[in-house]
Amino acid sequence: MGSRVPNAFVRQGRLYTANLARGPAYGERVVRADGREYREWSPSRSKLAEYLGRSGPFPIAEDSSVLYLGAGSGTTVSHVSDIVARGMVFAVEVAPIPFFRLLDVSAERPNVVPVLADARRPERYAPIVGGTVDAVYQDVSQRDQVDIFRRNLDAFGARWGVLMLKARSISHRPADEVVAAELAKLDGLEVTPVNVTASHPEHRAFHVAR
Ligand SMILES: C[S@@+](CC[C@H](N)C(=O)[O-])C[C@H]1O[C@@H](n2cnc3c(N)ncnc32)[C@H](O)[C@@H]1O
Repeated sequence: MGSRVPNAFVRQGRLYTANLARGPAYGERVVRADGREYREWSPSRSKLAEYLGRSGPFPIAEDSSVLYLGAGSGTTVSHVSDIVARGMVFAVEVAPIPFFRLLDVSAERPNVVPVLADARRPERYAPIVGGTVDAVYQDVSQRDQVDIFRRNLDAFGARWGVLMLKARSISHRPADEVVAAELAKLDGLEVTPVNVTASHPEHRAFHVAR
């Protein structure tokens, strides 16, 4: 990893996070060392793991608050929860089926707040978040994914975020063309691309900062 990410470690080329709960969250490998558990975080299971493995900027602290949009069943959320062990993860998911599994993951983790909501409507979960967040992480394959990202970044005053963009969800035009048009919506923000295509060929990752 480029900059140091709290509670995340690379050993023999594999990424791990120090487990805030006990045992695996989704069937991943767990190893024990120095009286602690470490969960393997595979880039093939998580775009964020590949992003970090490629030194994508992730200026997070152990007490940071993260708004996570498109939480799914909580695979990546569980590792973000390990990283911000003294912070908070507000995990927003719109689909009830993955949300039920996300509830199981959050039950083991005091710093994860599961939110069943549409990320297009930040005003609906603003009372749950209760103020600003440090960062927004987004992984939703929607036509208006960049609008959703910007709306949430602004609504919660986040200084930075990571956007996982799936061009094919926006348009079937050539991906480069789609991405260029979409990034124009992030006008005024500093946008840094990070390659995550080894395990996630359809996605482009961007670090976005004010
Ligand atoms: C690729 S999956 C997420 C995987 C997850 N980020 C991980 O790495 O473990 C994308 C998720 O975004 C959710 N989603 C799509 N549109 C959404 C929206 N408007 N608001 C909230 N969640 C949404 C989908 O239901 C799906 O569970």
